[in-house]
Amino acid sequence: MSDFPNKLQRKLDKRYNENSIRQLGESSSLVDFSSNDYLGFANNEELFSKTFQLLLNKNIAQNGATGSRLLSGNYPLFSELEKMLAEFHNVENALVFNSGYDANIGFFGAVPQRGDFVFYDEWIHASIRDGLLMTHAKSYKFSHNDLTDLKKKITTILQSKTDHVDSEIYVVTESVFSMDGDSPDLKELVRFCKTNAYRLVIDEAHAVGVFGDTGQGLVQELGLQNHVFARLVTFGKAMGVHGAAILGENRLKEYLVNFARSFIYSTALAPYSTVSIVSAYDFLVNEGNSERQQLKENIRFFKEEVKKKKLNSHFIESDSAIQSCILPSNDMVKSVSDKLAIKGFDVKAILSPTVPQGTERLRFCIHSYNSKEELGLVLQLLSTYI
Ligand SMILES: Cc1ncc(COP(=O)(O)O)c(C=O)c1O
Repeated sequence: MSDFPNKLQRKLDKRYNENSIRQLGESSSLVDFSSNDYLGFANNEELFSKTFQLLLNKNIAQNGATGSRLLSGNYPLFSELEKMLAEFHNVENALVFNSGYDANIGFFGAVPQRGDFVFYDEWIHASIRDGLLMTHAKSYKFSHNDLTDLKKKITTILQSKTDHVDSEIYVVTESVFSMDGDSPDLKELVRFCKTNAYRLVIDEAHAVGVFGDTGQGLVQELGLQNHVFARLVTFGKAMGVHGAAILGENRLKEYLVNFARSFIYSTALAPYSTVSIVSAYDFLVNEGNSERQQLKENIRFFKEEVKKKKLNSHFIESDSAIQSCILPSNDMVKSVSDKLAIKGFDVKAILSPTVPQGTERLRFCIHSYNSKEELGLVLQLLSTYI
């Protein structure tokens, strides 16, 4: 008889009963409407060769970092990479983390202090919520992309607290939301935060590579970089590699090096990873433009087809590479996703509890390498299934 703990088994059983069990799938040969590789960099052979060549040019013959960056792992490539990131993202400094998840738990676990207040969009990424669990600051969610609700929440909370004189107030959002692909009104948000001296923190995981003249992200596309306290950029999505950075002023970097636990207590990225980030940014600037134009064209075409096929009432308005089609219930969304898979398309069903019940969705991730035929056909099939 298995001695697996009963309490854990009951939780797994609940997932099975609700048709929401998560399982690891094999990577598929289906048409890709599910990966975050928006520009095709992850599988780009030219980029792979350039990264390999750069490793040789830099004479790097080291497999691992050997330790945390505060111990033995801070090899010279890190300062080159962070300098490049700061220049490209037009900010004083950058601190590289092993992943976006690490960066968010490091930042939110360390920055907001007891007596501070954090207001975050209700759809904020799990890594930010997890980081907030590690802080003594009080945190509150506001309705998705709803500035009016944010203002109301801040007023109500601050009125009820008398001891907020030297409290910092952090407002946290994503420039492109990972589930819906939509964006807040960043200009208005910046105006509001500036007027009230609130500190704005923006997760740009799904905007880097996609928005901006050369893929710098939505904050820079809108020219707002000087009004944001901190930005998160990740390299595992459009950049096609792995890792992340927090962008901000020099003192923020110094603070995080001292207090962000996921930075301090973890082995640094291997040199191969660091070189691959340098190489991916170089590729983005020099060869990535045509991929980004193609991605934009594919997003435009997809949205046009959604309208033509009268599917728009199901889709959440978005200009990003993420286009979500709400099909309420795990059963329904799974069944449509399965039918599309049989026809050769990989479109992921996003189930509750990842999203609230009733907002289960098919998430279409659009890429530069999807053909117009694929884009048209997947929507044609969808229209026959719903
Ligand atoms: C909005 C957002 N932030 C952070 C992360 C975490 O990034 P990483 O995959 O590099 O850990 C993700 C990844 O899913 C994300 O969607």
